[in-house]
Amino acid sequence: MRVLVTGGAGYIGSILVPRLLERGHQVRVVDRMFWGLPHYEGEAGVELVNADVRRLPEGVFDGIDAVDHLAGFSNDPTAEFSPEANWQMNAVATDTIAELCRAAGVRRLVFGSSCSLYDGADDSEEVLDESSPLAPRGAYATSKHYSEQALLRHAGPDFEPVILRQATVFGLSPRMRFDLVVNAFVKDALVRQRLVLHGGGRMWRPLISVEDLADAHIACLEAPAELVAGETFNAVGSNYQVRQLAELVAAALVKLGKPVALEDGPLPKIVRNYRCSGEKLRGRLNLTLPTTPAMAVARLVEDFGRDPAESLGHPKYYNIAWMELLERARPAFQAMQNIFEPVE
Ligand SMILES: NC(=O)c1ccc[n+]([C@@H]2O[C@H](COP(=O)([O-])OP(=O)(O)OC[C@H]3O[C@@H](n4cnc5c(N)ncnc54)[C@H](O)[C@@H]3O)[C@@H](O)[C@H]2O)c1
Repeated sequence: MRVLVTGGAGYIGSILVPRLLERGHQVRVVDRMFWGLPHYEGEAGVELVNADVRRLPEGVFDGIDAVDHLAGFSNDPTAEFSPEANWQMNAVATDTIAELCRAAGVRRLVFGSSCSLYDGADDSEEVLDESSPLAPRGAYATSKHYSEQALLRHAGPDFEPVILRQATVFGLSPRMRFDLVVNAFVKDALVRQRLVLHGGGRMWRPLISVEDLADAHIACLEAPAELVAGETFNAVGSNYQVRQLAELVAAALVKLGKPVALEDGPLPKIVRNYRCSGEKLRGRLNLTLPTTPAMAVARLVEDFGRDPAESLGHPKYYNIAWMELLERARPAFQAMQNIFEPVE
């Protein structure tokens, strides 16, 4: 297949795109390249288009069989940083992409939605499935909710959207993020040798590894329509309490002779505490999603354990820090362009 991946240069896309290539698919990546060109640039079978999903170039869907839509702001702080840009990227653009797919005869679209649609659910005793009531809070979850509804509105014989409500992702990617709970704990343990457990770390989180999530996307792109068309799936490996995650990160570092202190901190202003079931996705597509946080933590520690501590604090690893930096740098770039203009 020829697959167009929006946001394919990001954290998830940097694992997904090489796996699509390995399976013999051709890939066109459409991305603003906020974090620079992806590591797979120049590989056979991949084409990079530096473009914004809010203004897609003409012909970008030509020859495409399926779309995997990941582009946009990818967490709460970046969405709140510019709610207007977030709405255009994370809500309106999805609706437009669905229209463009239908006009170009592209049937299958897999969408990277989020379990944060369940965010406001206040009963962590219940394990939420795809039929549970939604309670999106804030700009990010609200825009993902709009996107889901827009895609399902377009669903029909000529258009097969598949919605993946992704749990918080963990694990190593060539475009690394340390602003996701497991990865952030590894960074804090390496840099500060201590982990703070807000509210005692009793809150539940649904999680999935980045490799297993990439495989779930591929399964949804390749599956027969009768299994996935117009369906919504939670993409969840397992649910963990934050304290459990901290303990397993600490245990991985102790093995290296680097003790880590666990400290209790105050409850955050917004408490997120929910569990989600990934059974529908596993059962329907026969997926095992086998990677545990412990496995991923071991790899992260191996990869980053030798880096100087300060390098893990680089803004490129934190979406909001990077966006703020890009925004601050914008006037400087404009000034540089002015150097080449005639002096009055
Ligand atoms: N990582 C997670 O834990 C997680 C969980 C649930 C949902 N998601 C969703 O999955 C998707 C991918 O997440 P990620 O972790 O890879 O994020 P990421 O921020 O690493 O990647 C997003 C990519 O999209 C690109 N992009 C951003 N805005 C764009 C625009 N307007 N036009 C074109 N390209 C643009 C960026 O350059 C980046 O390469 C996002 O939609 C995110 O909301 C992620």
